[in-house]
Amino acid sequence: MSDNQMPQFPEPYWRDSIQLPAFPKLEESVQTDVGIVGGGITGITAAYLLAKQNIKVTLLDAGVLLNGTTGHTTAKITAQHGLIYDEFIQHFGMEKALQYYKATTEAKELIENNISKYKIDCDYTKEDAYIYTNSEQYVSQLETELKAYEKLKIDGQLLEDIPLDLDVKSALVMKNQAQFHPLKYLKALINEAEKNGAQFFENTTAVDVEYNKHPAIITRDGKRVVCRYVIVASHFPFYDRQSFYFARMYPDRSYVMAIKTDQTFPGGMYINAESPTRSIRTTKMNGEKLWLIGGEHHKTGQGKTTIEHYNALKDFATDNFGVTDIPYRWSAQDYTTLDKMPFIGKITEDEDSVFVATGFRKWGITNGTIAAKLISDKIIHGENEYEELYSPSRFQADPSLRKFTSINADVARHMIKGKLEFTNDNVKELSPDDAIITRVNGKRTGVYKDKDSKLHALDTTCTHMGCEVEWNSGDRTWDCPCHGSRFSYTGDVVEGPAKRPLPKVELNGKK
Ligand code: FES
Repeated sequence: MSDNQMPQFPEPYWRDSIQLPAFPKLEESVQTDVGIVGGGITGITAAYLLAKQNIKVTLLDAGVLLNGTTGHTTAKITAQHGLIYDEFIQHFGMEKALQYYKATTEAKELIENNISKYKIDCDYTKEDAYIYTNSEQYVSQLETELKAYEKLKIDGQLLEDIPLDLDVKSALVMKNQAQFHPLKYLKALINEAEKNGAQFFENTTAVDVEYNKHPAIITRDGKRVVCRYVIVASHFPFYDRQSFYFARMYPDRSYVMAIKTDQTFPGGMYINAESPTRSIRTTKMNGEKLWLIGGEHHKTGQGKTTIEHYNALKDFATDNFGVTDIPYRWSAQDYTTLDKMPFIGKITEDEDSVFVATGFRKWGITNGTIAAKLISDKIIHGENEYEELYSPSRFQADPSLRKFTSINADVARHMIKGKLEFTNDNVKELSPDDAIITRVNGKRTGVYKDKDSKLHALDTTCTHMGCEVEWNSGDRTWDCPCHGSRFSYTGDVVEGPAKRPLPKVELNGKK
């Protein structure tokens, strides 16, 4: 690759820089104490915490461990989750806003204790976290957020400048936060969980939960994991017991580019307050510094051409830091709940044996860790102090309901709009590694031509609730604008809520 050229295929640095253990597919039905679905930070941390207490744990992942959002994060271990504390004080009150800060700080300490207890070499460094702005409008918002910090006794300060060589009007620092290599850390937790008897299975898709005397996770191959408790840690809940999680959260995609530059990094982790988002941190690669430039978030399936988002990050990095190489690029999908508080706890008010954790709003390292702690505490001790704060059954009239209406109106708009739109009718003119939307026998059909010029044609109607998927050129997936389902170019489900693949379409000589 020549300098400054982007890698052709997305791949997160985290996954490429570590060898993770491989696990078998579940080939027979099993009995266990706790069945966990999802091998990201929540599922693995819960497996570790439970197994340590001699609880029998079986964890299933539809693909391979740590290949979802946890493998694609920017991995900041921080309680500075954007401008959130003033908003939480307004919506939930002082006590709950303080609890959120405490819970997040507890998650950070849990990670740090594990790192020192097991001497995990995971490129952990202590860093101050900065929210900066270049917009007059956000200067006053940073001042308001500082007042919230003061009320909650958060160690923070308003600054006119930041250590990084960027023009800013104002910045809010939260002291003593941290960053790490998330997969090096979680590999050690997998190892510890295994030592205590936890079992991991990969390429095992959970499709349902059935109830008898005990709940049972049902896999796509018809195997059953009969257990006392189920933890749904599959990012978007694969099972929601008619709780309509898809209508209570919205999916967002964001991008990361790993660059090299001749500039010296002064330390710190940075994110701006305004849009488009820009997030900056560094990590180590073969003794050299790799700068991770993130941002450009947009609703899934509703952005401009995906590659334009990467180009925007590249331009930002080039203009501000000078880029000598771009070894990696990748993207991630996150869910935000309508009131921005994650959903962690019992899947429904009256269901004591199935737990869910989702809606981490891009702050999955700490939110995923506290989710694992909360749910493990519920299983081990029957309680956790943050249960009410994160309860998925909570009802907050403001701002959830207004947002609920606007998000679901947006879904309805996309449902209709997508059905009317076609990009092209000429499959013959399609270049390799490109896609179009056309009609085949009157049906909207997505056609991708792979690098070997093989055509892959799919019915573009999302198998979740019937919206029309859009092509994501950056990741070569078909993404649904309504609730964030994603499908590979061969139609397989990459990300729910959809459970069934997109049907393949015969092109019948269509050119
Ligand atoms: Fe709900 Fe596609 S994800 S309709």
